[in-house]
Amino acid sequence: MSDRQFLNYIDGAWVPGSGSDPIADLNPADLRKVIGYCTDSTAADVDAAVDAAQRAFPAWRATPAPVRGRICRDAARLFEQRAEEIGRVLTMEEGKILAEAQGEVMKGATLVEWFSGESRRLNGETVPSEMPNTFAYTKREPLGVVGLITPWNFPMAIPAWKIAPALVAGNTVVLKGAEQTPWVTELVVRAFLDAGVPPGVLNLVQGRGATAGARLVDHPHVEAISFTGSTEIGHMIYARGASLGKRVQCELGGKNPIIVLDDGDIAMAVAATAKGGFGSTGQRCTATSRAIVQRGALDAFLAGITEAAHAVVPGDGLDPRSTMGPSVDEDQFGKVQEYLQIGKDEGADVLVGGARATAGDLGHGLFTQPTVWVADRSMRVAREEIFGPVLSVVAVDSFEEAIAVANDVEYGLTSSVYTRDVNRVFQYVDQIETGMLHVNSPTIGGEAQLPFGGMKKTGIGPREMGTQAIDFFCEWKTVYIDYSGGLREGNLY
Ligand code: NAI
Ligand code: MG
Repeated sequence: MSDRQFLNYIDGAWVPGSGSDPIADLNPADLRKVIGYCTDSTAADVDAAVDAAQRAFPAWRATPAPVRGRICRDAARLFEQRAEEIGRVLTMEEGKILAEAQGEVMKGATLVEWFSGESRRLNGETVPSEMPNTFAYTKREPLGVVGLITPWNFPMAIPAWKIAPALVAGNTVVLKGAEQTPWVTELVVRAFLDAGVPPGVLNLVQGRGATAGARLVDHPHVEAISFTGSTEIGHMIYARGASLGKRVQCELGGKNPIIVLDDGDIAMAVAATAKGGFGSTGQRCTATSRAIVQRGALDAFLAGITEAAHAVVPGDGLDPRSTMGPSVDEDQFGKVQEYLQIGKDEGADVLVGGARATAGDLGHGLFTQPTVWVADRSMRVAREEIFGPVLSVVAVDSFEEAIAVANDVEYGLTSSVYTRDVNRVFQYVDQIETGMLHVNSPTIGGEAQLPFGGMKKTGIGPREMGTQAIDFFCEWKTVYIDYSGGLREGNLY
């Protein structure tokens, strides 16, 4: 038991929120273990954080970009040094197994490192003018105070990959972390502070979305919102932000398919599906939640994936024998159990799992058996995001049908195909409606230097990661300098 409280960081000081209803931070592997409490923040706390960020903005924007970048480089080093410690906290709060948690921290470190280098490439362009004796160019400038709202499923990497480009571009930040993972969020902020981010430049408000998060979106001095989370809240934030004239970027849900064609390497496809379907307990926006399998490959695929699911060992992520952790909290766990019922009611044919896992001590935690079922493409479980270790296999007759099924959902984050046919590979690349796609590799993952994000209901606004991420956090200025010494003639508009 711990009554440790995770606080806000505003204007260079750790302070409690002014709300009176702190949120219990429980270990989802064993709900008897209370890690601490996430402070409860109100609109007044958000206002104080935004005020601090506004006051800090002039000096931060005047700090040369490479100096801002060097601070991020040092933060990346600290994340590497602290990967073990942060990883352990991440496993306790979020549930993913230690190897995944530490892997996430190293991934976050790589992203921050890459953005630090971009600080030396905040280039504009010089462009030839239609007019003589005119120097035309573009330059980038920061937006001002930006708001970041992040989820619990990658509580280290997502805040890190939003904070770094925001700071490198010269903005000051108010971060609203996920209420399920306040300790990890605090450790992310501490690394940036220890690397030298000045007071007021990076502020943290912990607490609930409906109060603290909503105020951040509404605040008149927050110029932009970068959000990752549910489709429902993202679309709401986008509409609200647009009505207030703000720039909004949302990364939302997914229903990512892996397509397995008759000529594909079935063993590889099975391994990729198990990794993408059950890795991180399916709580990834890039998780594999559908396998669309051509009939010639179906029997071998089902045999392989059944065996792979049976081999998964649910358990406390701190125990090295565990290969899959729990759902993050009661809400998320309840959602998964509800979908297990929906699938059975719809007539999905359960091959493995289909229920919560209760063996030994597992009943004290939020564990679900890895589940594989054969579903029809029209079933809700084959179309809606579940965010748990549940894989729907859909059988198809042809490549064309596979693409049609893959595209027949409202999401479009990521996908994969297993085939050795080069023509099919390029047809898939052209026809699939996902923002990221993989050939002969799992649906998961993303590299810092490449844009990350989705099509359709999955993504709103410019992509994260890559140079696109910097663009979101910058304003462009277009500059015309007339050195002719006379008044312009001609077509001026
Ligand atoms: P959520 O969208 O409610 O929460 C994400 C963040 O938004 C949290 O920081 C939360 O406090 C904040 N938030 C919530 N309501 C808000 C509001 N009205 N205004 C401003 N901020 C608000 O997601 P939740 O409830 O944690 O998960 C629900 C589902 O969303 C999951 O089951 C999963 O399907 C999906 N999800 C997708 C993620 C992704 O990586 N794309 C990440 C997390 C959840
Ligand atoms: Mg929610």
